[in-house]
Amino acid sequence: MDTSGLVLPDPSLPTAERYSALTATLTALLSGERDSIANAANASALLYFGLPDVNWAGVYLMRGDELVVGPFQGRPACVRIALGRGVCGTAALARKTLVVPDVHEFPGHIACDSASLSEIVVPLLSQSRLLGVLDIDSPRRARFTAEDARGLEAFVAVLVAGSDWSA
Ligand code: SME
Repeated sequence: MDTSGLVLPDPSLPTAERYSALTATLTALLSGERDSIANAANASALLYFGLPDVNWAGVYLMRGDELVVGPFQGRPACVRIALGRGVCGTAALARKTLVVPDVHEFPGHIACDSASLSEIVVPLLSQSRLLGVLDIDSPRRARFTAEDARGLEAFVAVLVAGSDWSA
C-alpha cells in the first residue's frame, strides 16, 4: 500500500470516532499483507501518532510461556515479561483488557519509562489462543477509559484477523 497519502485522525475527534478512523486506516494498511510483525509495526505507529497523550504504543508477543517485546513506538522497553507479572502479564493471564488509571497504584507495575502514569493493555486473542498483548502508556493520569478499551478491542480484532501469527 502507498502510505504517502495516509492521514491521521484529528486529535480533537471524539474518542469513538477517532477509533473508527484508526481502525479503518489499519484495515487499509493491512490489505494485501499478512506478516504479523509488519502489521503490528504499522499498527503501533498508527496508535502512537494517532492518539493524543501517548508515550509508548506497541505489542508484546507470546514466545513460549512468556511475553517478549515486539514492534513498538516509544522508549526502549523491558524485553521479557512473565505471565502474571506487571500490567501486561496480568492482562495476558486474565485474557482481559486492563485499564490502569495510575500505574503507581498497580502492584507489580513494570516501569519502562518513568514518564508513564497510566496504561491500557488489550490481549491479542485468536479464538482461545493468546498471541500477546497491545500495550499503550500515557504520561497523563487516567488517560484511558472504557471507551478506549472498546475502541482498542475493535482495533486489535482487525490486527489479529488480518495477520498470520505462526511463530
Ligand atoms: N508497564 C508494563 C511494562 C511494559 S512498558 O509499559 C512498555 C507492565 O507493567 O506490564
